[in-house]
Amino acid sequence: MAKILITGGTGLVGTHLSKILSKSGHEISHLSRSADPDATYPTFKWNIQEKYIDPKAFDGIDHIIHLAGAGVADKRWSMERKQVIIDSRVNSTRLLKEQVSNLGITLKSFISASAIGYYGMDTGEAHLKEDSSSGEDFLAQVVKKWESEADTFSDITSVAKVRIGVVLSDEGGAMAEIVKPIKFYVGAPLGTGLQYMSWIHIEDLCLVFKHVLEQKLSGTYNATAPNPVSNEALTKTLARVLNKPLWLPNVPAFVMRLMLGEMAEMVLGGNYVLSDKIQSTGFKFKFTEVEAAVKDLINS
Ligand SMILES: NC(=O)c1ccc[n+]([C@@H]2O[C@H](COP(=O)([O-])OP(=O)(O)OC[C@H]3O[C@@H](n4cnc5c(N)ncnc54)[C@H](OP(=O)(O)O)[C@@H]3O)[C@@H](O)[C@H]2O)c1
Repeated sequence: MAKILITGGTGLVGTHLSKILSKSGHEISHLSRSADPDATYPTFKWNIQEKYIDPKAFDGIDHIIHLAGAGVADKRWSMERKQVIIDSRVNSTRLLKEQVSNLGITLKSFISASAIGYYGMDTGEAHLKEDSSSGEDFLAQVVKKWESEADTFSDITSVAKVRIGVVLSDEGGAMAEIVKPIKFYVGAPLGTGLQYMSWIHIEDLCLVFKHVLEQKLSGTYNATAPNPVSNEALTKTLARVLNKPLWLPNVPAFVMRLMLGEMAEMVLGGNYVLSDKIQSTGFKFKFTEVEAAVKDLINS
């Protein structure tokens, strides 16, 4: 059993991942911008701008799982917001590397969250593997910088990067945003509705992280379920499972752009991402079809 420090452990993925890892006997602690004394897991503070990490955070740890990052969909992408999105990932990784090196911590692995945004926000019908080329848009640039910063750990330990798809969870994230209007009878597919969404059930995502850690995998892995669906298919599936009608026409792209600015491309575009690589290491997805994933989340 291992001692694992998780950054961003209070977030959507981190909360679920901490539960799964501690249930299987691992010892979990969190690195957070605020150290809540009543937190479920020992929580240590860091301040990325001030280049501070509580050194006690590193006591006896075997692995770091780095999930921290400002939410890419939380606010419109002003210049300042874009910088926060970059710095919270790149500078945080750099700070972790500096502190781990300065303190002479021996790590068994550094596992970083990454995102399928690497490939570009809209890659149409192309089937994307880990060695497919990267995009040039804002998110692709963020992910490239984030991954290359994570790679700097490779001179001291094994490095893995998990390119996360659209996480389906009943506790927030993309699914909650699609479900809300459907529940109020105003749901509709976005833009053409044909854009692919490479989704993953949150439980499978956390099991991918666990698999990467326990199987000592290094390198880059796409974490997306084997059968991506279109935005329209996901919207219709959610409506069916919620037993709500969908009667409105698709939300036109220009309306999305007026509402969200550049960020709209994240939902108007899409990717068809393949996860054969992680499956070839023995990982088996529990949820391969979106309907089963959505039913599990909504009915649980
Ligand atoms: N959810 C998805 O669909 C998805 C898809 C692709 C990639 N990812 C990536 O996976 C990671 C985890 O995702 P998530 O959905 O769990 O994210 P989340 O719910 O937004 O949580 C991220 C955590 O990062 C920390 N954080 C937030 N703003 C920060 C800032 N400005 N500086 C430093 N830390 C900050 C927070 O922890 P504290 O408040 O404790 O510091 C927060 O709980 C993220 O890096 C995200 O980009 C997620």
